[in-house]
Amino acid sequence: MIKLARPEIGAAEIDAVARVLETGMLVEGVNVAAFETAVGRYTGARHAIAVSSGTAALHLALVAVGVGPGDEVIVPGFTFPASANVIELAGAVPVLVDIDLATFNLDPAALERLVTPRTRAIMPVHLFGQSAEMDVVAAVARAHGLKVVEDAACALGARYRGRACGALSDAGCFSFHPRKVITTGEGGMVLTDDDAVAARIRALRNHGYYVDGGGFLEPGFNYRMTDFQGAVGVAQMSRLDGLVERRRELARLYDRVLADLDVVRPSAPPHVDPVWQAYVVLLPEQVDRAAVTDDLRARGVETTFGTYSLGAIPRFASHGAVPRSTEAWRRSLSLPLHPRMADEDVASVAEALAASLREVACQAPAVRG
Ligand SMILES: Cc1ncc(COP(=O)(O)O)c(C=O)c1O
Repeated sequence: MIKLARPEIGAAEIDAVARVLETGMLVEGVNVAAFETAVGRYTGARHAIAVSSGTAALHLALVAVGVGPGDEVIVPGFTFPASANVIELAGAVPVLVDIDLATFNLDPAALERLVTPRTRAIMPVHLFGQSAEMDVVAAVARAHGLKVVEDAACALGARYRGRACGALSDAGCFSFHPRKVITTGEGGMVLTDDDAVAARIRALRNHGYYVDGGGFLEPGFNYRMTDFQGAVGVAQMSRLDGLVERRRELARLYDRVLADLDVVRPSAPPHVDPVWQAYVVLLPEQVDRAAVTDDLRARGVETTFGTYSLGAIPRFASHGAVPRSTEAWRRSLSLPLHPRMADEDVASVAEALAASLREVACQAPAVRG
């Protein structure tokens, strides 16, 4: 089976975990601090604050920039539901903006008309490791006095006009789930250049305790990262450049081998440098994506859909019309991509996909009839 994704864990990570376990200092120790320093240095952010997941990072970022009850936050309709869940957890209302099918990211032309007097923030998502159009997001935010919180869960290593995703806004959030570019098992990180926002996030991740400011000043969470996760993160950061380069090579290979197939390949404008957390194609409209996924599995290739349409989740359906998000959810297919894949694996995936498309196209009338 050619796996969809596979974390890069080696002897360095295993040794690092064992060393931490032997010390008995298991939570938020020197390794979490070293991991924060490494991510801060890599992205150029003034503060990098490790937490227990990408979802925790987003939740804290929203609260710390001032999102609360009565506010609206604009979020794309095509994303993992955590992006919208955290808006509700902060007491606010998600307002869905539709996407551009060419990039899978929020449609810059659709953003400004969704701003209302209640809008407090925009949450661009750098989906599949490709930056959203941040100049437009920043311009709309500036014009209306809004905060920007980046969902950069998939985008460590991605760049926009040469600058690191996650460090392009008031607060940017990474996930270190095993399907992301680097992993700590579970884990997340918030980046910010704002000292006050950073102090609040550091306190809120630890029960609302302000280290330099008088103790438990407000209710907080336990969103701390363990020190063995921090140690894995340090080891992962030392591999990051190689991991990113290999992902980019594999994506270029996919671009070549899929060129003659009847699928829409992902594309990025020249000022956007994706990290290819996932390589997601759009199948022809009439093709049954689930049938292709099943057929590919039988051929030894693991695939899945791109991500969810919030417009197809009943709880969010009334929060905005997002037909292109729902189309992307129906037609998208995420192909295997992880740094240990061989070049020949990419060619095998392309051959299997071509065969599946032929097979499923032949079967379709019989199945429907
Ligand atoms: C776009 C997006 N946002 C948020 C998350 C949540 O991250 P985590 O699983 O680390 O909580 C994910 C990950 O799964 C994601 O893909």
